[in-house]
Amino acid sequence: MKTYASFVFAGLAWGGCHMASAQVADTNLPAPQELTAEQDHKLMMELLKIDSLRPGANGMNRQAPNAANYDEAKANPYPTLPDPLVLKNGEPVTTPQQWWDQRRPEIVEDFDREVYGRMPSNVPKVTWELTSTSHEKVGEILVLKKELLGHVDNTAYPALSVDIQLTLVTPESARGPVPMMMEFGFFFGPRPGGPGGAPAPGRVSAKGAAPRPGPGGGPPAPTGPTWQQQLLEQGWGYATLVPGSFQADNGAGLTKGIIGLCNHGQPRQAEDWGTLRAWAWGASRALDYLETDPAVRAKEVGITGLSRYGKAALVTMAYDPRFAIGFIGSSGEGGAKLHRRTFGELVENLTGSGEYHWMGGNFLKYGGPLNAGDLPVDAHELIALCAPRPTYISYGASEGPGAEGQWVDQRGSFMAAVAAGPVYRLLGKQDLGTAEFPAVETGILDGELAFRQHKGGHTTGPNWPSFLEFAGRYIQGQKIPAPMD
Ligand code: GCU
Repeated sequence: MKTYASFVFAGLAWGGCHMASAQVADTNLPAPQELTAEQDHKLMMELLKIDSLRPGANGMNRQAPNAANYDEAKANPYPTLPDPLVLKNGEPVTTPQQWWDQRRPEIVEDFDREVYGRMPSNVPKVTWELTSTSHEKVGEILVLKKELLGHVDNTAYPALSVDIQLTLVTPESARGPVPMMMEFGFFFGPRPGGPGGAPAPGRVSAKGAAPRPGPGGGPPAPTGPTWQQQLLEQGWGYATLVPGSFQADNGAGLTKGIIGLCNHGQPRQAEDWGTLRAWAWGASRALDYLETDPAVRAKEVGITGLSRYGKAALVTMAYDPRFAIGFIGSSGEGGAKLHRRTFGELVENLTGSGEYHWMGGNFLKYGGPLNAGDLPVDAHELIALCAPRPTYISYGASEGPGAEGQWVDQRGSFMAAVAAGPVYRLLGKQDLGTAEFPAVETGILDGELAFRQHKGGHTTGPNWPSFLEFAGRYIQGQKIPAPMD
C-alpha cells in the first residue's frame, strides 16, 4: 500500500495572535520497504496484471535462442514511427506555436505515463550546501574546486535522507562566469552519504541485466588531454553529479532515494517515475544551484553522460529546457536508439528485473502483453524534445579493433536523430541534413543536431574535440592563454 503524506498541522491561533504553523511528520508512517529488485519487479508485474514478460536479447551468446539480432534485414519490424508533427487528433503541426502549446506537451505526457514515469508533484525542496573549496591543478591548469551537497527536505518522511553530491571545477584564471558541462559521473564503490556507487561502464552489477557485449569496448589508453583539460583550456568549467547519491542504480533502491522519499518508502505505482527520470531531476536541481553561483554562466550549461548516463543525459536535456546543449554518449536502448528497432538491446532487456528500474512502471507492459510497436512515442521524439537546442549524439564504432560493438545500435540511433529532424526544422534550426548513415569518424556536425562515431569503444573520449568544436559555434569560453616559456 502506498501511503501519502499525512501531516499533523500544528498551526495555532491564540488570542488573536497568529503563530506560524509548523509541519510535524506523522510518526506512524511505515519504515521503508526492503525488497529485492526481483520482488519489486514482481510487484509491478502484479500491479499491471502481467503474467509473463518476454526475455531480452542475449548479447553474449550467439547460439542462444534469444541471441541479439544483428541482421539489418530483420531489424525493422515496425517501420512506421509515430509522427512528431501530427497531433493526437490527426491535425498536422505546422507552426512553432502549435509545437510548443499542443504537440510537445502531448509527447511529454506520453513519455511520462508510458516510458520514463511521472515525476511526482510533491518532490521536496533541495537546499544546497557548499561543503569544501580547494585550489587544485588539473594538468597544468589551476582550478577552483567546490564540493556541494544538495540536502533534500525529508521532514515529511524522516526515515529516509537523501543528499545530492555535486562537484564543480572552474578555471582560476576566469575573469567572470564560465560556461560549463555537467556530467553524470561514474564512481566506483560506495561514497560516503550515498546509497552506493555505480558500476563501471559496460558492466551491469544489477542481477538479470545483460552485460554489454562486443569486442573490446574498453576505453583506449588515454592520449592527449582529458576531456576535463580540454574544457578548461577552452575556458569552460565542469560539474560532476553523482547519480547514485540520490537514486541507486537498481530495483531494490526504488523504495529509497528520491523516488522512495516521495513514496514514503513504499513501492511505485504504475505511473511513477523511474531512475532515469529521477537522475534527470537531480541534474535539474544541480542546475538550480549553478544558477545561484556567480562563477557560472547558468544559461550556458550543457549535460553529458555515457551509456546509462547517456540515457539520463538525453532525458535531462529533453525535460529541462534550461540545459543549453547535450552531448549524449552511447545511450542505446532507452536513450537515442529507436525502441522499434529489433537490433542489439531491446525493450525486453529494459523490462527485465536488472533494468526496469530505469523506466516508469507502465513501461513493463511493452515487454509482455504489448510490444515496441505499441509504444505511443519513440526515441526520435525524445530527441525532438531537445529541439531547438544543439544536441550531439555520440557513439563508438560498431566494428573494428577496439570498437564498441553493436549492442547500442548506432544505426537505430542515427535513424531516430533523422526522424527528429522535422521538429528542428520547424523551429528554424538545421537537422542532420542527410538520412545516409555516415562512416566512422565522419561527423555530421553542420546543424543543431549532430551525430558522430569514433573508433574508441564504449566511451565519449575520442569525440570530445569534435563536440567542443560543435559546441563552440554556440557557446564560447575565454580561452586560457598558453603558459609563457
Ligand atoms: C548494459 C545495458 C545498457 C547500458 C549499459 C551501461 O550494457 O544493456 O543499456 O547502457 O549497460 O550503462 O553500461
